[in-house]
Amino acid sequence: MSQNCAVILAGGQGKRMKSDMPKPMFKVLGEPMLEWVIKACEEAKINNICIVKGFNSNIIEEYINSRYKTVLQEQRLGTGHAVMQSNDFLKEYIEGNTLVLCGDAPFIDNETIENSLDYHQSKDNSVTVITSVVGNPFGYGRIIRSNNGITAIVEQKDANEEEQKICEINSGAYWFKTKDLLKSLEELKPNNSQGEYYLTDTVSIVIGMGLKADAFASQNSNVVLGANDRKGLNMLNQVARMDVINKHMENGVNFVCTDGIIIERDVVIGANTEILPGTILKGNTVIGENCVIGPNCLIENTKVGDNTKLNYVQAYESVIEDNVKIGPFVHIRPDSHIKSGCKIGDFVEVKNSVIGNNTAVAHLTYVGDSDVGSNVNFGCGCVTVNYDGSKKARTTIGDNAFIGCNTNLIAPVTVGNGAYTAAGTTVTKNVPDNALAIERGEFKIKEDFALRKLKKRHKD
Ligand code: UD1
Ligand code: CA
Repeated sequence: MSQNCAVILAGGQGKRMKSDMPKPMFKVLGEPMLEWVIKACEEAKINNICIVKGFNSNIIEEYINSRYKTVLQEQRLGTGHAVMQSNDFLKEYIEGNTLVLCGDAPFIDNETIENSLDYHQSKDNSVTVITSVVGNPFGYGRIIRSNNGITAIVEQKDANEEEQKICEINSGAYWFKTKDLLKSLEELKPNNSQGEYYLTDTVSIVIGMGLKADAFASQNSNVVLGANDRKGLNMLNQVARMDVINKHMENGVNFVCTDGIIIERDVVIGANTEILPGTILKGNTVIGENCVIGPNCLIENTKVGDNTKLNYVQAYESVIEDNVKIGPFVHIRPDSHIKSGCKIGDFVEVKNSVIGNNTAVAHLTYVGDSDVGSNVNFGCGCVTVNYDGSKKARTTIGDNAFIGCNTNLIAPVTVGNGAYTAAGTTVTKNVPDNALAIERGEFKIKEDFALRKLKKRHKD
């Protein structure tokens, strides 16, 4: 097992977010920033992770849910102080290297982590700071280079005029030799303008010990990006959103216009599929080839086959097969399976049901807790009555059945293969194969009803 480990700093509040939620829990493309950082570690095969929590720590604790170790920093006395809280954890990996990351800088990537570790080890550094060269370094710690590595990191508030001009900045991510990190943490003093224990001071401390500090400049300039307020968070979302969309374009997915399109990172889309504005694809959604998705679809954890068209559809935790046409204004609720060739039209809701091949449910219909065969036709306004106020029951409909307009199917009930229900029928008993179920009141005509009524009113 690897002796390398990671400490993720997530103790900060993020006052300018104006929220009770710790900043690392704010979401970028549907996932907390902290989760992005954890995933980058996992992708770099670093699985010994310790998360430092502080402000409203219960929120982070509940989210992590014992997946990884968490330690509490009761008072926020700086980034160095935050790392000190993980001392006991670090001692378990004393022979290896420690990666320190900020829980609110989501775009750290596994390549940067792996390449900087290679550099760190090949140079036998005690600390390797992951840096980036930026146009506007304001607010970041500046890197002071020497012939043989770096000599210091100077924080914005402590930097003199010359130092403020330096554009190579500290991303807030580092590799340390764990034993040197533990030693230098003991030496940290809050002697600076903010009265904090700066992790960045470990650089001059290790140099003072005759050890080596160096910097690894990341190719990914986004590694430094973080959010201090809602505008910053919106900017991170925008960067991540376009990054994902660009990758899909490279894979042959078409976007005529990207307005309002949000695709989470794990979504898979086949070539020649077109995504139209207002479409949000979430979770583990998989979309096949040659589909048209949108405008205005919200699809979550759903598998969609090839050649399928979804227009103004919301679908959750379901499977929609090939050559299906759904929409507009359709709600596919969890555990539904819409088989190939189906047509589901406007104002239809499907829940926890199987809809067989080539079945049509064209308008204003509710299909819940049902097993529907293939080539079934639903008229307009049908309802599977699946709930009696205390328990749910299923409806079964055979192949080639015809469900007339405004049919109510009182579950549990079965309509046989090839059977018909007449328009307006409330079906309370099973319908045999090929039969017709009809249940209507007697039809009457009352001649001149309106005229008689009018006369009566006139008399009064
Ligand atoms: C830090 C670096 C700076 C670097 C910048 C990159 C120091 C002294 N400075 O500055 O050189 O350019 O990051 O973004 O380290 N945190 C805690 N407990 C604390 C303080 C912070 O857990 O007591 C966490 C925060 O939640 C955050 C991370 O540490 O995830 C960085 O803290 P932040 O206050 O943003 O550091 P900066 O001042 O931006
Ligand atoms: Ca910061």
